[in-house]
Amino acid sequence: MDKEFKLIIDDVNGTKQISKDQLKYVLECEGEDNEEYLFEAARAVAEQIYRRDIYLRGLVEFTNYCKNDCYYCGIRHGNVNAKRYRLTEEEILGCCDMGETLGFKTFVLQGGEDPYFTDDRICQIVQKIKERHPSCAVTLSIGEKSYESYKRFYDAGATRYLLRHETADNEHYSLLHPAAMSGENRKRCLYNLKEIGFQVGCGIMVGTPYQTIDHIYEDIVFMQELKPQMIGIGPFIAHKDTPFCDEPNGSVNWTLRLLSVLRLLFPKVLLPATTALGTADVMGREKGILAGANVLMPNLSPVNVRGKYLLYDGKICTGEEAAECNVCLRNRIERIGYHVADSRGDHPDFVK
Ligand code: 5AD
Ligand code: FES
Repeated sequence: MDKEFKLIIDDVNGTKQISKDQLKYVLECEGEDNEEYLFEAARAVAEQIYRRDIYLRGLVEFTNYCKNDCYYCGIRHGNVNAKRYRLTEEEILGCCDMGETLGFKTFVLQGGEDPYFTDDRICQIVQKIKERHPSCAVTLSIGEKSYESYKRFYDAGATRYLLRHETADNEHYSLLHPAAMSGENRKRCLYNLKEIGFQVGCGIMVGTPYQTIDHIYEDIVFMQELKPQMIGIGPFIAHKDTPFCDEPNGSVNWTLRLLSVLRLLFPKVLLPATTALGTADVMGREKGILAGANVLMPNLSPVNVRGKYLLYDGKICTGEEAAECNVCLRNRIERIGYHVADSRGDHPDFVK
């Protein structure tokens, strides 16, 4: 094994800090035994806090209408080939009922930025889910809103919010998004969410066009300041109907290494092995867990809309019923020596 690599991992693990040079070394140094040392260190940290428990979050992709035009995303407004859909309130509630039957304690409502779903409509849906499933957590992932809107969602009963910052570097942000969006506003949203009291998830794609290690380092610095409860990362995967259709996909290996680095830096953070990771590599989700991830987000959306919520090409699980994915995932988790937790899986520091 590379001596320097081991020294860096031990140092990062001990100090919970990483320098730009160390990050560069950890991402670029080749060799399977180095990698295994990193993954093992990250697993050990996760295990100390979470044992070998994996939290399942049931994902309800309730609308693929979106007013934004992010250059990487398959449901961007400008993609005229996307077949658009919205679930009705009844359908959304039905997904959550199914989720509870399957043992899920968290529902994540994710959608494009769809003006049809006004704050009133979102609040009503959140309230109804909480009435029917009072012990479950409701997570929202519906993009950039005002402080007041976020406050209303929180008061309606949503306690978690996922909003990837995508990149902490404002210039890089502007290369991934049209001028109507800004990195500054994105970050402001995340701070607002935290201030209101949400458990907050930020995150990035690994290998987006123009991304450099300096950017990833900036992302880490940003996350150390924000102190999110969750961090979602996955490889960038090109979508054929977007401006980035010809761009190379992000590296699975870098995603795994970055997952491990994040686990070392943020021992308690909730870290999903994402669907994008599972799409880029058939064993990606298992590899993610073995690199320190502790969350999986199976899809609860009805099968007839799954093939329409395509942020990137080749997305897995678009043909499976929720019950099928549930069995499949539980088996996959057990096969690698982990098990599905039956608690809600709030962040350990979170007192409600
Ligand atoms: N490849 C990988 N991830 C993507 N996302 C959007 N488009 C893509 C893509 N082409 C991610 C973004 C977004 C999350 C919901 O999905 O990071 O925040
Ligand atoms: Fe969906 Fe395996 S998780 S089929």
